[in-house]
Amino acid sequence: MSDVKNRKKVLILLGSPRKNGNSAALAERIAAGAESAGAEVESLFILGMDIKPCRACWSCQNPDAPGCVIKDDMQAVFPKLAEADAWVIATPVHWFNMSAQTKLWMDRCFALPRYGKNPFRKKIGVAISYGDTDAVASGAVNAIRCFQDSFKYVGADIAGMVYGSALEAGDIRRNEELMAAAEALGRQLAL
Ligand SMILES: Cc1cc2nc3c(=O)[nH]c(=O)nc-3n(C[C@H](O)[C@H](O)[C@H](O)COP(=O)(O)O)c2cc1C
Repeated sequence: MSDVKNRKKVLILLGSPRKNGNSAALAERIAAGAESAGAEVESLFILGMDIKPCRACWSCQNPDAPGCVIKDDMQAVFPKLAEADAWVIATPVHWFNMSAQTKLWMDRCFALPRYGKNPFRKKIGVAISYGDTDAVASGAVNAIRCFQDSFKYVGADIAGMVYGSALEAGDIRRNEELMAAAEALGRQLAL
C-alpha cells in the first residue's frame, strides 16, 4: 500500500447508458486493480450528469478565459479531470464508435486547459465493449483510433486498452482473461 500522500487519483468516466453493463464491468475491474495497488478511485456515471454539447464558441481557447461558458455539470468535472493522475474511459461501441455520452464529454475537454497546468499529462486507460464478435467489424477500432489520435494530440499517455465482445449487460464478466487484463491495467494506472 502506497502512503496516503503519494496515492494516485484515478478518475473513471462511465460512458454507457447501462450502469451495470459490460464497459462498466471492465471499469469496475480496473478500479479493483487500481485500489489494490493503493490508488484512490472515483467513478462518474456521465449519462446521469447534465453534460451539454460543446457550442464551439472558442472562448475557452483564450488563455485569460475563466473556463467553459456552459454552466452545467462539467463545471464540477473539469477540476476532477485536472487533478486526477489517471483517467479511465469506459464506453460501449454505439454505431461503430464510442457512445454519444462519451463523445459529448470528450468535446467539452477542449476547455480543460483553463482548469489547470498541463491538464492532459495523465495516464489513460480505455475499456470498450461491443456486440459483434470482431473488433474491426464492430467499429471498436474506430473508437480505439479516435482515442489514440486524441490523446496523442494532447500529449496524454495511453497506458493500456482492454476491449472485448459481449452483447447482454454483464456478459463480459465471463471473459476471465479480459477481466484479468482489466485488473492489471488498473494496477498499472496506480503506479
Ligand atoms: C444504440 C446501440 C448501438 C450499438 N452499436 C453497435 C455497433 O456499432 N457495433 C457493435 O459491435 N455493437 C453495437 N452495439 C452493442 C453494444 O456495443 C454491446 O451490447 C456492448 O456490450 C454494450 O456495452 P455496455 O453494456 O457497456 O453498454 C450497440 C448497442 C446499442 C444500444
